[in-house]
Parts: sequence; structure tokens; C-alpha cells
Amino acid sequence: MPSIIEAFQSQVGRKILTGVTGVLLVFFIIFHLAGNLAIFGEPDAMNSYSHFLHELGPLLWIARIGLLAIFVIHAWIGISIWLKKRKARPVNYNVYSSKGGPSKQGLSSRSMTFTGVVLLIFVIFHVNTFALGDMGTAELADGTQVHDIKTLVLDTFQNPLYAFGYTFVMILLGAHLGHGIWSAFTSLTVKSKKASAVIYTIGIIAAVVLAVGFLFIPLYIYFGGGCEAALIHCN
Ligand code: HEM
Repeated sequence: MPSIIEAFQSQVGRKILTGVTGVLLVFFIIFHLAGNLAIFGEPDAMNSYSHFLHELGPLLWIARIGLLAIFVIHAWIGISIWLKKRKARPVNYNVYSSKGGPSKQGLSSRSMTFTGVVLLIFVIFHVNTFALGDMGTAELADGTQVHDIKTLVLDTFQNPLYAFGYTFVMILLGAHLGHGIWSAFTSLTVKSKKASAVIYTIGIIAAVVLAVGFLFIPLYIYFGGGCEAALIHCN
């Protein structure tokens, strides 16, 4: 059985590792969006959900370290594949055109490295804003004191720079997933042209649903005025 180091070094191994880590990241993104939608639930829903995650203690840290490792492997291989391709073919990546076939060389596939690097920078900035952000405390209905993540999110997206900056990055997330979901599933499983086309369509639909789901949050909070918005219940 090849070791993880050998897998990193072979082209097929790297494609498989990018695919597996990519699928795991998609699961994280679905889970994260579902959790974030708690902002539209009962007044306490988002803070209760965040409190539940934090109460997991060591389990949460294991999940965080696992997620970080997945992010790093995915980004590392993605960037190294791009560097290798650039070295082998010093034509500007943007003017490169492929000759038909199921290569899906659309705008989002040619910009995978760009959107990926922006997402990586975004995640560092994002974790600093929300997971490590300066927040007050709130009291749940049962009297438990918890971190007030909900107010931090509502206040952050009152700032147009954050609201529109997030919206822009979520569009790039959609572009990355639009090609990435197809690419991961075809490199891991399906090889037939017909199945590839079906997966491509499913990937695009999933990417649009996820991107729109995420970007709805900052835009709705910004234009709705936080607690004033009809779908946000603060008390
Ligand atoms: C509108 C979009 C988003 C909102 C409102 C949002 C909100 C949040 C919040 C509130 C937290 C802190 C959770 C807590 O500590 O309880 C968080 C953490 C995090 N978010 Fe997001 N998020 C968004 C998009 C994304 C995207 C697109 C990604 C990945 C590509 C992402 C990755 C993360 C990561 C890695 C953490 C740290 C998790 C942890 O340390 O527990 N987020 N996000």
C-alpha cells in the first residue's frame, strides 16, 4: 500500500487527495451553512448552536485540527499542481484553451487557483473575525451565559465593507465549487462521459445553492438593518 508521502508525490495520488479533501470540505461547507441559518431561527438559536459546539470541548478541537489539516492538504496540492503546470507550459493560464472533450475548461475551471487562494485568505480573515472575534455574552432562556456570536455577526454585517466583501467572496466560492465538485467526483469515481455530464450539472446546482445560501446572510442583514429585519428575531 502506498504511503501518504508517495501519494503526495504521484500525480494520480495528488488528484485523489485533492478530490477526497475537496469532498470533505464540501461536507463542512454544507454543515456550516446549515448552522449559520440558525440566525433566522428563534432569538437564541444561533447562540445556543454555537454554545453546543463549544461544549463539545476536546471533540471540537479534534474536528478543528482535522479541518485545518484538510484545508492545508487541499490548498497545498492545488497550488503545487498549478505551479507544476505553469512550469511545464509557460503560456499564461488565462489564455490557454483546450481542444473540446470533457475537460470542462470553463471560466471557473481556469480560475480554480485564483478562487482557491482568495478563499484561503478569506478563511484566515474570517476565523479571526468570528471564531476569535471580540464578543460579549448573552443569556439563553434557561439562564446559561454564552458567547454572543449572534450580535457579533449582526454588527459585522452592518458594515458595507464586510457585507459586500463577503458577498463577493461567496460568488468566488460558488465558482470554485462549480468546477470543484465535478472535478472531485470524476477523479474519484465516474469516468463515463454521460455520468460526467450529470455530475457537472449537479455540481453547478449545488454550487449555486451554497453560494446563494451564504451570500443571502450578509446582504439580508445589511439591507434589513440587523434586528430590524423581518426574518431576524432578537428578542
Ligand atoms: C456568510 C457567510 C458566513 C458566515 C455568516 C459565517 C459565520 C461563521 C461564524 C459565526 C463562525 C464562528 C462559529 C463559532 O465559533 O461558534 C464561523 C467559523 C468558521 N467559518 Fe464561517 N461563515 C461564513 C462562511 C464561511 C465559509 C464560506 C467558510 C469556508 C470556506 C467558512 C469557514 C469557517 C471556519 C473554518 C470557521 C472556524 C470554525 C471553528 O473554529 O469552530 N465560513 N463562521
